[in-house]
Formats: sequence, structure tokens, C-alpha cells
Amino acid sequence: MNFKETLAEKTVHAEDVLTKYLPEEKGYQKKVIESMNYSALAGGKRLRPILMEESFRLFGGNSAIVEPFMAALEMIHNYSLVHDDLPAMDNDEYRRGRKTTWNVYGEGMAVLAGDALLNKAFETAAEAFSMIGEAADIAARYAAVAKALQILANKAGIYGMIGGQVVDVQSSGHAIDQDRLDFIYELKTGALLEAAMMVGAVLAGASEKEVSVIEKVASDVGIAFQIRDDILDVTSTLEELGKPIHSDDKNEKTTYVTLKGLKQAEKDVEEISARAIEGLASLPYKNVFLTELIKSLVY
Ligand code: IPE
Ligand code: IPE
Ligand code: MG
Ligand code: MG
Ligand code: MG
Repeated sequence: MNFKETLAEKTVHAEDVLTKYLPEEKGYQKKVIESMNYSALAGGKRLRPILMEESFRLFGGNSAIVEPFMAALEMIHNYSLVHDDLPAMDNDEYRRGRKTTWNVYGEGMAVLAGDALLNKAFETAAEAFSMIGEAADIAARYAAVAKALQILANKAGIYGMIGGQVVDVQSSGHAIDQDRLDFIYELKTGALLEAAMMVGAVLAGASEKEVSVIEKVASDVGIAFQIRDDILDVTSTLEELGKPIHSDDKNEKTTYVTLKGLKQAEKDVEEISARAIEGLASLPYKNVFLTELIKSLVY
């Protein structure tokens, strides 16, 4: 199988895992569950759960313990998008080629669907405890799941994704400098990619030093990915992206493109992703698909 076919297969798998943990549409709260599923099952690239599983494999993991965490992270990512698209934030009407959640279900329900996805994420991740079983190294396995939960919570919170979104919102309409822009990218996009790769590593039993190498790799992937997203916001089309272009311009956002120009932004993407590949290559383990995936993300 070539890279594209393998990726397609892994995307289906990540989607299946997510679907398994999404709630059933029933009960008086049916509407909010419908809107959660509407946003979560809209056909994203599923990069975060794929990166998580590949990082897990890189460090020798081969059980299903990673699956609740894959679903959980994709739920958190989807919640962040539902809220990001709200009129109070980026005010965008399309996502993944469909109307955004607030556009279909109304703003109140979209706020609640986002909240519910976030909460469901931790309900789901905690299910990993019940999958530990009777292994000889049971204490270490409990500790790894607890550590993974801690990472997920931290990277989604005010020292992670939310923190980045806060500064992003505050910076709309203002000129900001490189330092502040880097802070936004590292957190709003980098943090969930860090969570993906760190959780995979921790669940596979990677050492602290290895986890910190993978954190830096994922951070670089995240920054390069966000710069690429900003470039596409200027150079792509609604049809190709499935979301509106010129969203950043509409919201008067400073981006790598507005700050440094398209050419330099392209150069930065290449430099930062090369650094990520180097970091990955410095580890004594290999996962050829993971390396290919990281290369493909930013090009
Ligand atoms: C979109 O992330 C938000 C950014 C961090 C740029 P993705 O490009 O991974 O979105 P989906 O999940 O594939 O739609
Ligand atoms: C969003 O960045 C990152 C999130 C944490 C949701 P953008 O606002 O640039 O993402 P898109 O372009 O709407 O996907
Ligand atoms: Mg935004
Ligand atoms: Mg947006
Ligand atoms: Mg964008």
C-alpha cells in the first residue's frame, strides 16, 4: 500500500473509533446530541487521533488502550471548531463543506454542543481505566492512563488551546508582533497536536525524555500546520478547503502571511517542518508512515 492508501485506511479507522464513543441521539437532550454528532461526523481529516495512534506505535504500543483517547482528542478538537466558528468568534458559516453547527442548530445549541463534546471527551478518555486488565505491570499502566488524562486536560485548557484562542480573540483588529503571534500558534493549534503525540507516547510507556522530544516535534508540526492554514486562507478556495477563505482578513487577524508576507511564510513552514522531522529522526525508533504524514501535513 502506498502512503495515500494507508492514510485513507487509518482515517477510516480513526473515524470508526470516534463514532463508537459518540452518544446515541435519544432522550429529551436529543437535539444537543444531534448537533454534537453533526459537527463531529462531518468528515474532518482526523489528523490528531491518527498522530496519536502513530506516536503510540512509534514507542511500541499495540493495544486498544489508545482508542478512548483518540476519540476524546477528536471530540475536543471538534468542540474547539464549533466554538471557533460562532458569530462571537470567527463568525464563519462553512466548515468541512457544510454549514457550521451554529448555522444549522442556532447559537445556543452550538455553545452547548461544544461544551458537551468537551465533557464527553473526558468521560470517554476515562474509559481507558477499565481497559487496563490484569497485566503484571498494572500499577505502571494505571499511572500512564492518569498521566495521559492530565496531559489531555492541560493541553486543552488555559495553558493550551483555550489560552491560544483567548489571545487570538483579543488580538483581532490589532497589530501584534511576532512573539505574540508565536504564542497564539503554539497554543491554539500546537497544544492539541502536542496532546496527540504525547498521549500516544505516554500510553506506550515512553520515558520522560522521549515524551519531551515528541512534545517539541508536535509543537513544530502545529506551528507549521497553522502557518499553512493561514496561507491557504489567502491562496485556496472555499470548494477546496470546505471552509471560507479570507476569514482572517474579515476578522482583521494578524497572521504569518500579513506579518511576513506569503513567500517568507512558505519558507518558515519548510524550516519549521524540517526541524520537526529532524527531532523525530533523533529518536531511536522509526515509524515511516508517521514521518511521511508529518511531511504531507505542511505541504
Ligand atoms: C482546523 O484543523 C483548525 C486548525 C488548527 C487550523 P484541521 O485542518 O485539522 O481540521 P479538520 O478536522 O481536518 O476539519
Ligand atoms: C483555529 O484557528 C484553531 C482552533 C483552536 C479552533 P483558525 O480560526 O485559523 O481555524 P479555522 O481556519 O477556522 O479552521
Ligand atoms: Mg479562529
Ligand atoms: Mg476560524
Ligand atoms: Mg484559519
